[in-house]
Amino acid sequence: MKILSIETSCDDTAITIFEAKGGMQNAVFRVLANNSNSQIKIHVPFGGVYPMLAKREHKKNLPIILEASLKQAKLEKTKKPVNAICVTYGPGLEMCLWEGILFAQDLAKKWGVPLIPVNHMEGHILSVFGKEKGTFKIQKLKTPILSLLVSGGHTQLVLVKDKKMSARGGSALGGDYEIIGETLDDAVGEAFDKVARMLDLPYPGGPEISRLAETVQKSRFTLPRPMIYSNNFNFSFSGLKTSVLYLTKKLGKINKQIKAEIALEFQKAAIECLVYKTRKAIEKYKIKTLIVAGGVAANKHLKNEMKKITNKKIKLLFPAKELVGDNSIMIGIAGYLNYIKNKKKVSKLGSIKATGNLRL
Ligand code: KG4
Ligand code: ZN
Repeated sequence: MKILSIETSCDDTAITIFEAKGGMQNAVFRVLANNSNSQIKIHVPFGGVYPMLAKREHKKNLPIILEASLKQAKLEKTKKPVNAICVTYGPGLEMCLWEGILFAQDLAKKWGVPLIPVNHMEGHILSVFGKEKGTFKIQKLKTPILSLLVSGGHTQLVLVKDKKMSARGGSALGGDYEIIGETLDDAVGEAFDKVARMLDLPYPGGPEISRLAETVQKSRFTLPRPMIYSNNFNFSFSGLKTSVLYLTKKLGKINKQIKAEIALEFQKAAIECLVYKTRKAIEKYKIKTLIVAGGVAANKHLKNEMKKITNKKIKLLFPAKELVGDNSIMIGIAGYLNYIKNKKKVSKLGSIKATGNLRL
């Protein structure tokens, strides 16, 4: 069947058209069209995403991206180009989510096809299977699966329990999702962005900090690792961020060398917290597969540290470089798998509501 997926939860407007077939464990996807528009440049002067502007850009760009995608898939002259539409309905910025939902509802009505609501975080988990072009398959993964979700809005450790252990069978991966730990304050990506601002680096700060950190070997500074030894799987990044603020205030005017050393120590501290808790969870739940996803999964230091703790004994999956950030490929994967698993529950037109704080 043909699927069209839409993502507008934050500052990326994205549409993918797929040909998808097969069941939960062996689905195959062929990308017929994939187009997106990143709004980063527009938000740079604000040092972060400005929701009203993001909403306006989604509204403006959705019809343009749809037209380009239908043309690319050679479906522009077809009356009913796809068999179903998937759309992100949360979590994210509600006014942005609504733009995607309303657009998807109009299309679903016009084409007379079902609408599949998708949880953006489930999309990130499933992004590890995707490719931007061509054909890809769902791999069968050994359970229990642990997922570390790290983005600008989230820092969560999510357990995908064994199918047999699951009472509800809620996920597209076949088990139940359980959030076993999460940040109690800032998300790790948010901390990267805020620290970058303190160091006069542009938005988004994550890639800037990691680039700067790579220019030095060691740091003369020591920053705290909040909650690292707490007896749970939660995180906290606001204290770490505040420590950088005090440090930069104390130092006054700082040169590039000092900035790079602060970036290195901050990155090391933040990632040490993520890695330590992930390792504890792997041990406790006897994890067989580890999925790391979300924007911060682009961080090279994080990837290297995760390779060390899994040491080829645990299957380690990261998304392809192009699918680390927000995209509509991951929304299509999650939508299709949920659709074939649960056709009856697929939304009746008009019943999807943007849910900013939607949980897995
Ligand atoms: O998943 P994402 O694209 O958007 C959502 O927040 O949903 O994640 C964006 C976040 C930003 O905070 C950005 O600074 C961070 O991911 N990020 C990174 C890196 N690349 C992006 N953080 C650390 N290191 C990176 N290389
Ligand atoms: Zn995201």
